[in-house]
Parts: sequence; C-alpha cells; structure tokens
Amino acid sequence: MNNSVEIARQRAWSTYWSAGALHSCADSFERNYSGVIGEFWRSRFQSLPRECRVLDLATGNGALPLLLWELTHGQNDVRIDAVDFAQVAPSWYQPTLHPAIAFHPGVAMEQLPFADSTFDFVVSQFGLEYARWPQALHEISRVSKPGAGAAFVMHHPDSVIVRVGREELRHLALLLSTEGLLDSARLVMPWIAHARAGRIDLAQGDEAARSKQAYNRAAGHISGLIDASPAPDLLIEMRASVHSLLAGIGAGGAGPQLAQLEELRQGLCAAELRAAELVEHAVDSQRLKELMEVFQVARPDHSIACEPIAQAEGTLGWAVSLQPLNP
Ligand SMILES: C[S@@+](CC[C@H](N)C(=O)[O-])C[C@H]1O[C@@H](n2cnc3c(N)ncnc32)[C@H](O)[C@@H]1O
Repeated sequence: MNNSVEIARQRAWSTYWSAGALHSCADSFERNYSGVIGEFWRSRFQSLPRECRVLDLATGNGALPLLLWELTHGQNDVRIDAVDFAQVAPSWYQPTLHPAIAFHPGVAMEQLPFADSTFDFVVSQFGLEYARWPQALHEISRVSKPGAGAAFVMHHPDSVIVRVGREELRHLALLLSTEGLLDSARLVMPWIAHARAGRIDLAQGDEAARSKQAYNRAAGHISGLIDASPAPDLLIEMRASVHSLLAGIGAGGAGPQLAQLEELRQGLCAAELRAAELVEHAVDSQRLKELMEVFQVARPDHSIACEPIAQAEGTLGWAVSLQPLNP
C-alpha cells in the first residue's frame, strides 16, 4: 500500500474517532457490543490471570479496554496497552481514573513498540484484519509471552455488518456522484439565495430552473432508494441534512450553507473510505487459513479455535481464540 493511501486511511479514522464514537459500529450496536460479541469478550476476560498485561490492537476509542477495565478494576491487576495507527479520542478515558490503561496512537500493528514476550493476552475487535499479514501476526507472536493467549473478533464477508457496509458503499457512491444529491444541491443553492432575495423566479430562467429540476430529480432518486433499501439510514440522514441546508438559505447568500455542504461531502468521502476498507478487509476462508497457519507455526503449543459468531439478526463476524494447550 502506498504512503498516500495509508495517510488517507489514518486521517479518515482519526476524524471518525474525534467525533467521539466508542466503537466502529456506533449506529448498529449498543454501547460496548452487547449480545454475543460482548459475551465472547466477557468469557475470554474471565480467564485472565489476576496480574497480567493485555494488548489491544487497533483499539479505536478503546471499547475493549473500557469493557476490560469495567470487568476487572478493583479486583485484578490488569495493565492494558491499546494501540491504533490513527489519533484516538476516548472521551471516557481519564488517566487518573484509569491509570492501568495506556493509549498509543500513531502505532501500527505491523511494528509494535514493545519488547519481546511482554503480554499475557492479545486482543483485537474488528482491527486485526486491517493490518498487513503476516507482519502483524509475527509481531503478535513476538510481543506475546510463551504461554500467552489471544482472542480476535474479525469481519466476516457474509456478516450483517459487512452487508450493510456494501449497501452503504453503493449509497455513498450515488450521493457523491456528479448529478448526485450533494452536487445538485451545491448548484441550486446560489439560485435559491437569489430567489429569496427576490432577484429571480426559480421557475423561470434557464439555468436556475434546470438546477432546481436536477436537484428534485436527485432527491426523488434518493427517496425511491430509501423505500427499496434494507439499510436506508445513511440516505435518510443525508436527505434530511441537505434539505435543511436548502431551507436555511437566506436572501443574504448561500455561503454558510455551501460551506456546511462541503463539510458533509468531506464526511461522506471519509465514510466511503472506511466502508470500502471494511468490505475489502472482511476475512474470507483463504485469509483465515493464512492466520491459522502463521499461528500454528509460531505457537505450536497452542490450540486455535475459529468460528462465525452470530445472533438473531445473523452472522456478526469471526471469533478466534488462541489458547495454550498446557496453561
Ligand atoms: C473498525 S475500527 C475498530 C476499532 C475498535 N477495535 C472497535 O472495536 O471499535 C478499525 C481500526 O483499525 C485501525 N487500523 C487500521 N489499520 C491499522 C494498522 N495497520 N495498525 C494499527 N491500527 C490500524 C484504524 O485506525 C481503526 O481505528
């Protein structure tokens, strides 16, 4: 991957975390992954030794460190190092209240700044699959103590999350296309300001009328998709946001609304990059085999369990556990 792609990825995630979400499926799941994913983590964390060091890879705003801290503080002596190559902004985190947790932003999983044999347990939730393999897998082995365990939840190509990601990618491409909702709103905005100032009649005049028709066409297209889509949330949100920007234009000009529209566009570009990454990095059976093979060689004295994790709405991901055969 070239450097500019990497920088764009880091920037997109940093922007996402700076808005305060606790985890990357903030719209789809309750706080800290309730349901089977939460159960999976609780069961792994229960078997941790009383004193241990845990590494969380691609931590984001620290959903796993928070869960682990809530489960163990006051009882166990668990030290957590949480790395991510983006800048993170966990609003819940207070160094004085959570002295056992250290965040390491700007750190890539492929090059961990920790000594060999440091950690008793390594975890990652929807993170490890974003790394370059096998480098990151070798790094996990290197920084793990000989009897250390590991657990990962990773994206599955047929999961509900990845299916919604694919649908959102289609919607984002449409919203961001020329003649899409945002572009047509940008073109009609100055005409609306002229109309509100009484300088023109939007129904008259070739260019103004054409812009208005193009916007109405784009908005109509979005409404049709909303009715037909199983995951229309993004479209509903964008239709409402753009509509309220148009409604807010005054006789003084469309400058503030054009600036806000540009912000919306940039947010959608970052969302498109994240959704594309999600879909691209979902782990198929071939990639899963690669993970198993690397760990089987690096940790022959461990068992590896790997299965889809599912609940009523369908598959949510892969659950992978690495455990020493003789703990
Ligand atoms: C889907 S989010 C998961 C965040 C968090 N674990 C959670 O469950 O909410 C993926 C994270 O992986 C990070 N990431 C992607 N590639 C990475 C890499 N090579 N090294 C470290 N972090 C990476 C991104 O910055 C992003 O924060």
